[in-house]
Amino acid sequence: MDKNNEKLIITGGKPLYGEIAVDTSKNAVLPILAASILNSGKTVLHNIMPITDAYNMLNILSTLGCTYKWENNDLHINCVNAHSWEIPQDLAKEIRSSIFMLGSILSRFRAAKVSYPGGCDIGIRPIDLHLKGLKDLNVKIKEEHGFIICDGTNMKGGNVHLDYPSVGATENLIMAAALTEGITEIRNAAKEPEITDLQNFINCMGGKISGAGTSTITIQGVETLKDCEYTPIPDRIIGGTYLIACAICGGKIRITNFLSEHLYSLIAKLRESGCEFNITPTYIDIECKQRPLTAQIIETLPYPGFPTDLQAPMTALQTISDGTCMIIENMFETRFKHCPELIKMGANITVRDRMAIIRGVSHLQGAEVNAMDLRGGAALILAGLAAKGTTVINNINHIDRGYFNVEEKFNSLGGDIQRIS
Ligand code: EPZ
Repeated sequence: MDKNNEKLIITGGKPLYGEIAVDTSKNAVLPILAASILNSGKTVLHNIMPITDAYNMLNILSTLGCTYKWENNDLHINCVNAHSWEIPQDLAKEIRSSIFMLGSILSRFRAAKVSYPGGCDIGIRPIDLHLKGLKDLNVKIKEEHGFIICDGTNMKGGNVHLDYPSVGATENLIMAAALTEGITEIRNAAKEPEITDLQNFINCMGGKISGAGTSTITIQGVETLKDCEYTPIPDRIIGGTYLIACAICGGKIRITNFLSEHLYSLIAKLRESGCEFNITPTYIDIECKQRPLTAQIIETLPYPGFPTDLQAPMTALQTISDGTCMIIENMFETRFKHCPELIKMGANITVRDRMAIIRGVSHLQGAEVNAMDLRGGAALILAGLAAKGTTVINNINHIDRGYFNVEEKFNSLGGDIQRIS
């Protein structure tokens, strides 16, 4: 079966009811997979879903000499025989997170060669902050023929101030410093929960990292790390996608394996939309009994601000609100590619650069649409679940990068989605 030609057929218009558990976080698992090479031994990760991006990272680790096996949802990784420090171009271009292999490879081998990374086409995706921070750790870097060639022979701990709290740059530098002699301090660091999870994973291997979740992270380099078993945090973006699905379709659902403190920004916005919540430390109930009220203004910001990865699903919700909403996408240059597709379904959206003005309509109509990136694809699923009639979504390989068995998940809540090729 050609995975690139698969489609989702959605019959919309039904409210959602039931209970669903959130998978572990893609954006925690990817840096943790990169960090597994820091240990010249074995790592066991629990509850790992076989999403495409995880396979892409495992292919990179295999190229470097690591081996792995999946037993149910437990991923066993052995990096004892890792020997290479060069990531092939065809693998690097598949995924953005190939770039944060730089830090872990440098930490272990004191050398690294990687081409410019791939990932979702949502903007320029520069890596200047990654490279500038590595230079602050005395890494010598050449950029030739599309490759980044690093010499870490004389790496040492140092002070890095990030011009912008980049998630990937923060993660890369944590990994670069983990096995590098001396103390490294990262200031203006990103504060996303996935960074705290990376700190906790490396400390589980015997690392000495503190401050993750704040703007200043301190890493004391150690000589070696040890085997460990670890369960990454729940995926707050998947959990948020389910919350917004209930808001756009109506109904009442319980989401388990969910940490509400990771999504207070979204919960506040959904309260503005008229949703009601029952929040506990491990699950959340949401009930939406009416047409969504407009959220008025949504601005994507670094954590704990509103997450850019939920901008597209939230845009879908606002298309049927009772008013007008302005969405400002501060993080990426071209992250409104789902809007022309939503317009095919009857949405009233005007996009100007990084701003979208959405005037709510009474309902969406099913149509044939194309997923253009991971979260934009998720937005189209939510729109299809709410629309009157049938929606066909093409290019769902984008969605499979971050949502495992997405149709089964929503069908368990009363959705009607079929995958065909
Ligand atoms: C991570 O991407 C996530 N990906 C993204 O999720 C998420 O949208 C993003 O963080 C923001 O939260 C993974 O964790 C694998 P950034 P990353 O570096 O690290 C600028 C998804 O859908 N920047 O925080 O690439 C950049 O242009 C994906 O799961 C520089 O200018 O995000 C952007 O405007 C999409 N120079 C801003 O920072 C740099 O060197 C945020 O980027 C690096 C970044």
